[in-house]
Amino acid sequence: MIKIAPSILAADPLNLERDARRMMDAGCDWLHVDVMDAHFVHNLAFSPDTVRRLEEITTVPLDVHLMMNHPERYLDVFLDAGADRITIHAEVSGSLQAMLDKIHRRGAKAGLALKPGTGISAVEPFLDETDLVLTMTVEPGFGGQKLNESVLGKIAALRKIGYQGEIEADGGVKEHNLQSLIDQGLSVAVMGTALFRSDDPKAMMARLHAMG
Ligand code: DX5
Ligand code: ZN
Repeated sequence: MIKIAPSILAADPLNLERDARRMMDAGCDWLHVDVMDAHFVHNLAFSPDTVRRLEEITTVPLDVHLMMNHPERYLDVFLDAGADRITIHAEVSGSLQAMLDKIHRRGAKAGLALKPGTGISAVEPFLDETDLVLTMTVEPGFGGQKLNESVLGKIAALRKIGYQGEIEADGGVKEHNLQSLIDQGLSVAVMGTALFRSDDPKAMMARLHAMG
């Protein structure tokens, strides 16, 4: 069954606990935390302290997406804060292998993210040690953008080469386009504005889970 990971980037920053609880009560599988450093992407979002406080109140895994340069400098910080999964971008400099190993050594799940313009060749050498591939369906940095349809082919290509891990889409995922993503082999949907702006996220999540 498709896993739904609400992105707290779309939550009310002054009511983060209320909104996180609302999503958990609605039946979400994970909570997605977009971390941004204002360098790798032109936006700034969430600190390790936010992850720490969220970890104290959440009953679902925290899926931390590091949209930052030099993520190796912050792996311990976010793991100490309670991240259950950490995804780094394949486009960053430094050894992806070393970062994946570090996340695994600390007992967490490791993911690699691809911007829409980055091909799967950037992650192929690491797939045996990658628990999740995040195929960004928008240019990273901001919620509320339109899904880039060309990324569907990337999801299908990953399954075609035999990748069995989680494939996550992030950005512009809506109730009307999720089925087409699932049909390509998607297993986790990050959804921000669609869920946080819904007046009945519980009913929406039930419909989303029923898609397969
Ligand atoms: C982009 C962000 C967004 C956000 C979800 O860097 O990561 O993808 O999580 O976006 P929407 O609101 O389009 O679901
Ligand atoms: Zn994200």
